[in-house]
Amino acid sequence: MDNLLNKIVANPDLHARWLNTLSLMENTGARKISASEDTVNVTYIILKHAAEEHRHAFYLKKQIDKIGEGVCPTYARQFLLAPAQSKYYLNQLDVEVCRYLKKELNLSGIELRFAAYLLVTYAIEVRADELYPVYQEALDNAGSKVNVKSIILEEEGHLEEMINQLKNFSPDWQLHADRAVVIETALFNNWLTGLQKEIGVATA
Ligand SMILES: [Fe+2]
Ligand SMILES: [Fe+2]
Repeated sequence: MDNLLNKIVANPDLHARWLNTLSLMENTGARKISASEDTVNVTYIILKHAAEEHRHAFYLKKQIDKIGEGVCPTYARQFLLAPAQSKYYLNQLDVEVCRYLKKELNLSGIELRFAAYLLVTYAIEVRADELYPVYQEALDNAGSKVNVKSIILEEEGHLEEMINQLKNFSPDWQLHADRAVVIETALFNNWLTGLQKEIGVATA
């Protein structure tokens, strides 16, 4: 991962598309949280979380200007890294976590939607807490003007908030959360393979 990120940060075209890809994924996550909100029972913590994920998508997009103004104007595939795997990652995580919840806990409807929000978001937060600090280190090493420190701070808060919500959801929360992490890890590795292929070609 370190090696991959050093290569990305060193190459302005790759770096701009990397930021745009992260922005796409944050935006997808934000929209999923908003979509799973119950119109009546939505809480302060869920509203805060959705707002912050939307901000991350915007903030990452804004960072691209430090590399080149207007170089990745949209989420069209030519402005992304590993576009297929990047889009597949979150959607498939949702599908597989829902399948698990239906099978193991027999959930449906509003309950399923809320439980999926908890588990999918938990797994993503675990990943974010690992990925963003490694990326920030690559940025520091390269002396880049881009920085993601404000995102790191908020993601740490999110993981704590998800654990608190999960504890209220089920006494067996850790068991379910661990299963979500196993599902997420396979999808993350698939994403990495896609990235490695594209970056290998670009830097060869
Ligand atoms: Fe985020
Ligand atoms: Fe988050």
